[in-house]
Amino acid sequence: MSIRPIAPADHAALVALWRRTPGIRLRPEDAFTPFCAYLARNPGLSLACDIEGQLVGCVMAGHDGRRGYLQHLVVDEPWRGRGLAQALLDEVLTRLAALGIDKSHVFVVRDAQQSMDFWRAQGGWAARDDIQVFSTTVVES
Ligand SMILES: CC(C)(COP(=O)(O)OP(=O)(O)OC[C@H]1O[C@@H](n2cnc3c(N)ncnc32)[C@H](O)[C@@H]1OP(=O)(O)O)[C@@H](O)C(=O)NCCC(=O)NCCS
Repeated sequence: MSIRPIAPADHAALVALWRRTPGIRLRPEDAFTPFCAYLARNPGLSLACDIEGQLVGCVMAGHDGRRGYLQHLVVDEPWRGRGLAQALLDEVLTRLAALGIDKSHVFVVRDAQQSMDFWRAQGGWAARDDIQVFSTTVVES
């Protein structure tokens, strides 16, 4: 198993992974051009996990200079339960910490049960009941 930064060439494999993963909502920002712009804006932070040359997991990550933001933490179904998501999460937090970002957020849709259970089980992370997220409605969010 190896973990490495996601490159533009990974886009097709990632979209295929996201499409076959219940709980992942694809957005216009997941299209190739904005995907590449996101990688360029946050170099080395979005990570892929490969096994025998096959992309089996990923996490997208960026920061705004103050907080880190994680999205699309996914491990392909046959490879779950082997610590791959944990390895991706540990690596991305290490990379964010190296940039001085010690606190991060992840937004999880409530009906993504597996993901909710994963994050609730994570030590060092807490669900926030004191914050309501508001998002712009003029564009897809
Ligand atoms: C959530 C997900 C990434 C976990 O991947 P994984 O590789 O199976 O997770 P890991 O094996 O690294 O598990 C790490 C730890 O989390 C725990 N965990 C993993 N999935 C869990 C779940 N569904 N419920 C409770 N705990 C869970 C593991 O038991 C492990 O804890 P341990 O070290 O104490 O044993 C994977 O199930 C997935 O891709 N699900 C769909 C993704 C999704 O809906 N994403 C929406 C994002 S908004």
